[in-house]
Amino acid sequence: MRNKIVAGNWKMNLDADEAESLYRDLLNKSLGQSDGKMTLIFPPNIYLKDFIEKNNGSFEIGAQNVNAQKNGAYTGEVSASQLKSIGCSWVLVGHSERRTLFNEDDKVLLDKINSALEYGLNVIYCCGESLNERKELRHKSKIQSQLAILKAFSLEQIKSISIAYEPIWAIGTGKTASPDQAAEMHDFIREELKILFGSEASDQTSILYGGSCSPSNAEVLFKCHNIDGGLIGGAALNADSFRSIIEFLK
Ligand code: 13P
Repeated sequence: MRNKIVAGNWKMNLDADEAESLYRDLLNKSLGQSDGKMTLIFPPNIYLKDFIEKNNGSFEIGAQNVNAQKNGAYTGEVSASQLKSIGCSWVLVGHSERRTLFNEDDKVLLDKINSALEYGLNVIYCCGESLNERKELRHKSKIQSQLAILKAFSLEQIKSISIAYEPIWAIGTGKTASPDQAAEMHDFIREELKILFGSEASDQTSILYGGSCSPSNAEVLFKCHNIDGGLIGGAALNADSFRSIIEFLK
């Protein structure tokens, strides 16, 4: 059985007091991890160590980014070995904000995943098309090419990788993909994973939806056969709305 996952990506939001307050709210809500259901949060790096030390096991904590190098002269960067050493267990790779704003290409993303896996971190690998690509009916080929880099990984390695489908036009816009659009893309991703890794590995890979996912649309989205949870941005910055979304995970 594949895991059902709700993950909160805080992005570059919240000052120290606000972050602490949200974190305490989340701890108090005993979000729970059981029966293959998992909750993850991805706060900004500066809060990671403190949060990991205070974690009560309600959720796992990951980093929003990782550098592919182990250490060295990479000013401002954080490596997988450093994240591992503070008890971090997950990392996001391939988020559209990193691909577009920080020019991360396939080679960089591949190196990042390699490094994360080498240090035992689980990866959420994000993919998603732009509005133009969708309008020009290139959304499936875009996702196909983004997933293709995963063929570098073994069946053993793919067990540590989950996918997040995040259409760029839905991120932070309030324009969620319709259940039909999301279901179509998640079915497609599952098929592509099958071509790359076979049925068993494909069946066991969690595929999350991201893009304006909120308490008002999570229920119907999470009912889709191949949607195994969500990667949540804005709605993860409030403990009540994040918790509501988690409760729709069946
Ligand atoms: P929003 O939920 O704010 O649209 O962000 C989605 C996202 O980018 C999560 O990684």
